Amino acid sequence: MPLLEVRNLSLRYDKAQILNGVSLNVGAGELVGLVGPNGAGKSTLLRAISGLVRFEERMKRGTTGAIVLEGEVHFAGERIDTLPAHEIRGRGLVHCPERRRPFRELTVLENLLAGAFLSKNKAETQRRLEHCFALFPRLSERKAQIAGTLSGGEQQMLATARSLMFEAKLLAIDEPSLGLAPLIREELFSAIAKIHREGVPVLLVEQEVSQVFRMANRNYVLSQGRILAEGPAKLLMADETLRAGYLGL
Ligand SMILES: Nc1ncnc2c1ncn2[C@@H]1O[C@H](COP(=O)(O)OP(=O)(O)OP(=O)(O)O)[C@@H](O)[C@H]1O
Ligand SMILES: [Mg+2]
Repeated sequence: MPLLEVRNLSLRYDKAQILNGVSLNVGAGELVGLVGPNGAGKSTLLRAISGLVRFEERMKRGTTGAIVLEGEVHFAGERIDTLPAHEIRGRGLVHCPERRRPFRELTVLENLLAGAFLSKNKAETQRRLEHCFALFPRLSERKAQIAGTLSGGEQQMLATARSLMFEAKLLAIDEPSLGLAPLIREELFSAIAKIHREGVPVLLVEQEVSQVFRMANRNYVLSQGRILAEGPAKLLMADETLRAGYLGL
């Protein structure tokens, strides 16, 4: 039984059908890539899984049309698509959204501690903090720096590190490399690979398809809200139509 199982998920904003019967799973120990062209619905799928879509719906109620969500999401043997976002995260499904930014006025350390507010256990918080700094040495050197003065790439690292202050049983990361220079991108991907090696399954959304293909055990290709193909990189690369038309490789 997979750790995360998305069953036939569809999502509609008013008349716009964004997700169309998406089924996807992530098993224990897997790093699964989710790729596809701009506007395919990748971020929306992650937001639907983590409950952010319903959070957004509450925020916007009365100002825009309804969001209609159908299908089911199961996590660790429990149905979660009916739960609010904070409860989903509380169960260990941690989502690091696209373009997430740290709190600019707080220091690096304060940002990380803000991510740990759920944990009342000081020793545990300290352990997670040290883990974050081990994964991101660059942040460790800048503990006392105000986050707003970090480079864009460092801020992105901090945003990812902050997600790790929650005890993650699965990490869903949306485009961590967006806008980053090659060197810092390498650092971020190696941190993600390490998180995976240490036993946390990862669902990774990335524009950088060749990078995902190097890291992932399996991949899904999403286009116009539908899963077009699924499998290890080698298999997907062997499909010429897929490779040229959707993967840009
Ligand atoms: N709140 C919303 N209301 C209406 N349409 C939306 C809303 N959010 C997203 N969409 C639309 O849903 C589609 C999928 O968007 P989404 O952000 O999930 O794509 P994506 O695959 O993450 O793309 P990218 O690679 O550019 O990040 C887009 O056409 C987008 O305009
Ligand atoms: Mg996106």
